[in-house]
Amino acid sequence: MIQQVGIIGSGTMGSGIAQVAATAGCTVYLFDTRQEALDKAKSAHHKILDRLVEKGRLTAQDRQAIGERINYVSQLSDLASADLVIEAIVEDLGIKKQVFQQLEQIVGSNCMIATNTSSLSVASIAASLNNPSRCIGLHFFNPAPLMRLVEVIPAVQTANTTTEQAVEAMKDWGKTIAVAKDTPGFIVNRVARPFYGEALRIYEEGMGSFATIDRAMKTLGGFRMGPFELMDFIGNDVNYTVTETVFTAFYFDPRYKPSFTQKRMAEAGYLGRKSGRGYYDYSENAADEVVIQDDALEQRIFERILVMLINEAADALFMNIATAGAIDDAMTKGVNYPKGLLAWADEIGIDWCVNKMNVLYDTYREDRYRCSPLLRMMAEQNQNFF
Ligand code: NAI
Repeated sequence: MIQQVGIIGSGTMGSGIAQVAATAGCTVYLFDTRQEALDKAKSAHHKILDRLVEKGRLTAQDRQAIGERINYVSQLSDLASADLVIEAIVEDLGIKKQVFQQLEQIVGSNCMIATNTSSLSVASIAASLNNPSRCIGLHFFNPAPLMRLVEVIPAVQTANTTTEQAVEAMKDWGKTIAVAKDTPGFIVNRVARPFYGEALRIYEEGMGSFATIDRAMKTLGGFRMGPFELMDFIGNDVNYTVTETVFTAFYFDPRYKPSFTQKRMAEAGYLGRKSGRGYYDYSENAADEVVIQDDALEQRIFERILVMLINEAADALFMNIATAGAIDDAMTKGVNYPKGLLAWADEIGIDWCVNKMNVLYDTYREDRYRCSPLLRMMAEQNQNFF
């Protein structure tokens, strides 16, 4: 049973994870090298917890107890008694390795050491430890208290008991778990790539404007945000970097090729909401977007992005990245997709998906549009995912 939790890095993710752990009853030691980051996390916690009390989701007594369970500490040695440490610092392999080596000198031999990395391999981080068998990836989603998913990523060095303990701990924290292979993007950041990439490609081909593509995905697909709204929300710099990292890590598989459109947006400083301008203008007197409603066009756009997403999800299953259930849970609970992609494929028909991919491949003759062998095999044998 995990009782004492150390968290390294009190930024966006670390402070969210601290709230989750404290709410689950753990004593938390939240460490950062910058005092201002600790102060910011503390005032954010107070604000969020107060709001939960106002909304009636938390009693004043529980709010008090949760607040008291979080200790904001400025020495790594304050994490000495932790049963579990989760690292959520800057995404830099050299720095993470250095911190892990220091940490191993401080914590007890039974302490589990986890990383919240989204793009580095867990194996490469674990390799910095004398005992890498206690290391695992625990990938939370932003905002950590609201998004139910945690991807649990055992590295090649991870002991089975570490994985079992990590799964148990995350269940105790009320999370939905998707165990994933230590491969680039794990589940969500791999399977979600076509949502952005295919939308950008469709735009570049001149098929539709940002607003038309967004509208298609929202009204026909039931997605809460369209791809361009979502990229503006995430930040074009951040989203572009994830795509580029996944593309490079997959040895330049054309399926993950980044887009010039997005690169130019990032270069221009059109980062999205945070800079006031991205694909859309967020300034006060911005004109409303004009969307020319064309149902047939929107249907074509929606189907093309959807089938590329399904193909990616099917291929992740084919490559044993995770189980079908975990892949669908990951997309619905990590990034709020309206439906699991594999369940969606069952619903619209595997045959339909294969035909659609074949048409795209015949049209473009690009490897990007190759149909997953799993979809082909399933169509031949009349199988469904569930
Ligand atoms: P952030 O920039 O908001 O926070 C990082 C914090 O780490 C900062 O407060 C910084 O002062 C601190 N820090 C840097 N070096 C440190 C060190 N050596 N020791 C102690 N503290 C140190 O970053 P964010 O967004 O919270 O990301 C953290 C990690 O989580 C990264 O590995 C990122 O890839 C991953 N991640 C981020 C997600 C997101 O949506 N932001 C989602 C899932 C994972």
